Amino acid sequence: MILNKAISSHKNLKPKSFVKGQAQILFGDVFDALNEIEDESVDLIFADPPYNIGKQFGTFKDTWGSDEEYANWCYEWIDICIKKLKKNGSIYVMTSTQAMPYLDLWMRKRLNVLSRIVWHYDSSGVQAKKYFGSLYEPILYCVKDSKNYTFNGADIEVEAKTGAKRKLIDYRKAVPAQYKTTKIPGNTWYIPRVRYKMAEYENHPTQKPEALLERIIKASSNKGDVVMDPFSGSFTTCAVALKLDRKAIGIEAQEDYVKIGLRRLGISDTYGAEKLKPVTKNHQHKNNKSQSLFGEEW
Ligand SMILES: C[S@@+](CC[C@H](N)C(=O)[O-])C[C@H]1O[C@@H](n2cnc3c(N)ncnc32)[C@H](O)[C@@H]1O
Repeated sequence: MILNKAISSHKNLKPKSFVKGQAQILFGDVFDALNEIEDESVDLIFADPPYNIGKQFGTFKDTWGSDEEYANWCYEWIDICIKKLKKNGSIYVMTSTQAMPYLDLWMRKRLNVLSRIVWHYDSSGVQAKKYFGSLYEPILYCVKDSKNYTFNGADIEVEAKTGAKRKLIDYRKAVPAQYKTTKIPGNTWYIPRVRYKMAEYENHPTQKPEALLERIIKASSNKGDVVMDPFSGSFTTCAVALKLDRKAIGIEAQEDYVKIGLRRLGISDTYGAEKLKPVTKNHQHKNNKSQSLFGEEW
């Protein structure tokens, strides 16, 4: 297997660990950092790796030689992540639409795939002229044991339009009654992307919205559980996990993003002699609180 040179996995370097309260950041390559985590100790993993689409993450360019090379790299960390999951644990994995079939085939042989989620958003920036532009990213949701896993459906209910807006009556019931006004979301999630003016914005090219992680963490973990993100980026997963009273472990290989994490997770407001400051947003709306409301479904 040829590994991406820039990433040079398995550096066999001990990652630097930063810990405070319920949060831990492991600064290093994903394979070295995963080595530091005890097997069967994690309740929930959210993995949002580089997608092999040429993005620049600090000094790392997200490009592998072929789809297969990229898939092989993913297979390796997925297998280790599975070992780190508790027996009743859950894992959500994202990647590009074109790479997801590889990961789906791999994961369904090892885990139980419960949902194939479509995270949908709109964008004025992605406007293909001669084909249908991509406005979604797939998320694979799997559990180790389909008979024993956490799913807090009541904590993530959304408005059910049939009941709440259209006020339709369900005549199949012995005593006809209006449909419920809330329901567990289906597998298509409309959640806006993080934009520059939003309060939660960080300086990272593929920052995921807090609302996306809020739904996943509330559904698939309980207070006090361990949530781990092997590609933390701007540390959205860990930040939301802490807000929801979970323990958070975040892995990241780029120093600039680790600095975001140190500040965002309240671990430190300095890095060596450097003062860690949030991004300044000149035109931020006064009431632009973090995106805590779930978007609508399709
Ligand atoms: C798609 S981004 C994650 C974004 C994140 N979910 C967020 O909300 O900000 C992938 C991240 O993986 C990091 N990364 C790439 N290769 C890595 C490796 N070998 N080990 C650890 N982190 C890596 C990149 O620096 C990048 O920040």
